Amino acid sequence: MLGKMKLFTRRAALGTGLLGAAGTGSLAYGNLIERHQLTVEKVNCPLKPTHAQLDGLRIAMVADFHFDELQEGELIDRCVKMIKAQKPDLIILCGDYVSHDSEPIEPLAQHLSQLSAPLGVFAVLGNHDHWSGAGHITRQLTAAGVEVLRNQTTTLSYRHSPFQLAGLGSAWAGAADYQHALPSSPKSPANSPPVILAVHEPDYFDRICNDPRLVLQVSGHTHGGQVCAPFLGAIRLPSWGKNYVSGLYRRQDSHIYVTRGVGTLFPHVRFCCPPEISLITLSANV
Ligand SMILES: [Fe+2]
Repeated sequence: MLGKMKLFTRRAALGTGLLGAAGTGSLAYGNLIERHQLTVEKVNCPLKPTHAQLDGLRIAMVADFHFDELQEGELIDRCVKMIKAQKPDLIILCGDYVSHDSEPIEPLAQHLSQLSAPLGVFAVLGNHDHWSGAGHITRQLTAAGVEVLRNQTTTLSYRHSPFQLAGLGSAWAGAADYQHALPSSPKSPANSPPVILAVHEPDYFDRICNDPRLVLQVSGHTHGGQVCAPFLGAIRLPSWGKNYVSGLYRRQDSHIYVTRGVGTLFPHVRFCCPPEISLITLSANV
């Protein structure tokens, strides 16, 4: 009897030890390896016939640096180089440059100042930016040559066809105002320039996806879940990031693309969810 109990206790201890080792191994893998596996995700976004003039427009989009957490200049340097190598027409930064402390926006903005694109480099703020110091972050990005859109719209031109790029404040921070950025057009929507919208939180799409002017919303915020279970997906998702987690979705005639982001929040681990640079090509022929 005593022998059997000893055997059971030894097996339990061995099992616990193996589970612990597997857990520690997974954490080490997620922190030391996958978190650095920056990946360019290339996606074609279909255009409806009334927006076909944007066929071929290439947008690079990144988000969720959370630079104050670990201040890894090497990761951002590599990110900037990889974006430049894609030679996009337009670059959009989709918010959460920092998590809690706005001071490290200064070195981050220095890295981002190396970005350029024929149609420009634009940014919106995330919930963490609003909570950490929206004014300071906006000023530093602006000084780095990045145009920050806070419920504002700018008109751009692609192959002589105008389109509008709108950027909103953070929805979670209560700072997103679509009507202010894009007042309803007095003209028929069919004659209005197509709209590309940047807003940090993806679930804002549910409010505006039936606007016929809208081609594409780009968002970050979810980190794709950051830690995902194989075959099941994200384990935990933030407010305003429950409905559109990662990748391309369609509702009505509009699309949304959600990027997995570059940085991490604590715990600084990625699992089945590597960091991402998104390269979106608008396509009339998909
Ligand atoms: Fe966020």
